[in-house]
Amino acid sequence: MYRGRRLRRTGTLRAMVRETSLSVRDLIMPYFVVDEPGIVRKPISSMPGQYQLSIAALEEDVAKAVNNGLHACLLFGIPAHKNEAGSEAYAEDGIVQRATAMLKKRFSQLLVITDVCLCEYTSHGHCGLLNPSGMVRNDATVELLARTAVSHVRAGADIVAPSDMMDGRVAAIRGALDAANYEHIPVMSYAAKYASAFYGPFREAAESAPKAGNRKTYQMDPANAREALREVAADIEEGADMLIVKPAGPYLDILAKTRAACNLPIAAYQVSGEYAMLRAAGQNGWLDEQAAVMESLTGIKRAGADMIITYFAAELLEKGFGR
Ligand code: PBG
Repeated sequence: MYRGRRLRRTGTLRAMVRETSLSVRDLIMPYFVVDEPGIVRKPISSMPGQYQLSIAALEEDVAKAVNNGLHACLLFGIPAHKNEAGSEAYAEDGIVQRATAMLKKRFSQLLVITDVCLCEYTSHGHCGLLNPSGMVRNDATVELLARTAVSHVRAGADIVAPSDMMDGRVAAIRGALDAANYEHIPVMSYAAKYASAFYGPFREAAESAPKAGNRKTYQMDPANAREALREVAADIEEGADMLIVKPAGPYLDILAKTRAACNLPIAAYQVSGEYAMLRAAGQNGWLDEQAAVMESLTGIKRAGADMIITYFAAELLEKGFGR
């Protein structure tokens, strides 16, 4: 008779037959950078333990994280001033550009990934330019995204990650990078990004909630799985080097299907709402937070992710994960 318990008898035996393992190299830590002088850490109330960091504070926090083994980070910028065209997103001395330059100078081994989107930079909070009726203009936005990506790479970014969900942006970014002699820089595209309520805390963190309307005309309908595969195919066709599926936990089926449909490296984004839920339950003593976090990350890897973007990364490393 088959007895599954034979292989579960001791810890060593379980470890030997374990199918999935989480490594330090899988983790990507997101950071929110604000344009403030000096060392500033502003707590994000819906994401306890996460902060908006000034460049000097980012330097301190990343120094600690790198010392604990962090390999890669993802940067989001909150500019001092927003406008209709989100022009701080592609300013040479924009907040992400300066933060990137500092990080690459200080930590040359660290992979700096930059989020390419306009929503943190526009006064209306949408991910692109608006036409008079409030609809996001696709192709005009794509041009600005390409400019943004080039400016990030000029500042030293190792990888650019467009999260806007405009059509054709991967091809435009690839073309603009190549034209600027950055043909060696990979594009990690948010291929399957859903219009999710789980981004709520992020919008507080990035001060990027749309002032009117929602993102449903560009981000995907949570009810759709086949559409994700069309987005994946389009991004690969346009030249994406890596893909992101986002959110992660409620979309493990999409992750597994994406894994089966292509051979590119895939990152999963455990988003702000997933972080907030685990953290809140942990703080209330309703869950063993550390165990639940590890289980959620293992589940995401098991479903097919090669890498995981998670707000828990720095803390896990600080607690000794991987050592
Ligand atoms: C920008 C962007 C968002 C997130 C990542 N990039 C917000 C959004 O699309 O509204 C969400 C990440 C998170 O919730 O942790 N477009």
